Amino acid sequence: MRYNVIKGANTIINKSAYLVNNPSIYKNKWREVFSNNNPIHLELGMGRGEFIIKMAEAYPNINFIGLELVDSQMVSAVNKLANHNLPNLKLINADARDIDKFFGKEIDTIYLTFSEPWPKRIDEKKRFTHESYLKLYDKVFKKNKHIILKTDNKGLFAYSLESLSKYWYIFDRVSLDLHHDENHINNIMTDFEKKYYEEGRPIYYLDAKFMN
Ligand SMILES: C[S@@+](CC[C@H](N)C(=O)[O-])C[C@H]1O[C@@H](n2cnc3c(N)ncnc32)[C@H](O)[C@@H]1O
Repeated sequence: MRYNVIKGANTIINKSAYLVNNPSIYKNKWREVFSNNNPIHLELGMGRGEFIIKMAEAYPNINFIGLELVDSQMVSAVNKLANHNLPNLKLINADARDIDKFFGKEIDTIYLTFSEPWPKRIDEKKRFTHESYLKLYDKVFKKNKHIILKTDNKGLFAYSLESLSKYWYIFDRVSLDLHHDENHINNIMTDFEKKYYEEGRPIYYLDAKFMN
């Protein structure tokens, strides 16, 4: 996907009180960052931050971290936060491949929301549910592992079900059409989800756990 280049993006991002500028300093110290022992939930590829901001508003007793690689997306998230006061939210401007540099075994839940599907076989390793990513997540999850994934992409969804099963995750919930599911859960939509929902496309959802 192509994103706009925004002039002065770094200055805007770095000024935000939500940004954790050098996250590796806080490895194993995120409790101190949030000044509490609440669970920590991490979204990889948060885009413009719609989901993680609304989650932080809705669940003040959970700490949220939104991680995003692309500057222009971060700028949008930072701008959205201008009139918010959310002590339970932090942002990281970095590559998801580096999360083990930023976190010890500190994360309770990882959200993978509308991640790039990387449909070509040659790009399989870039999918956020490839085994190499699942191994990476092992390094940052606390004792138990918990992944929530939402996507409009059937191929990525099928691949993720298989990849997670092979890795011994069990599924608490799977939906092939989240918004028309009779067991509809309290769902906060991401930016991409809103767009696809309005287009009438089904949203695939899974909630996977591995209990040690
Ligand atoms: C399709 S968008 C979805 C954005 C948001 N989660 C949503 O649902 O609206 C995927 C996002 O993942 C980000 N992304 C892709 N690969 C990444 C990586 N390796 N590390 C961090 N962010 C990444 C992209 O920059 C983009 O903002």
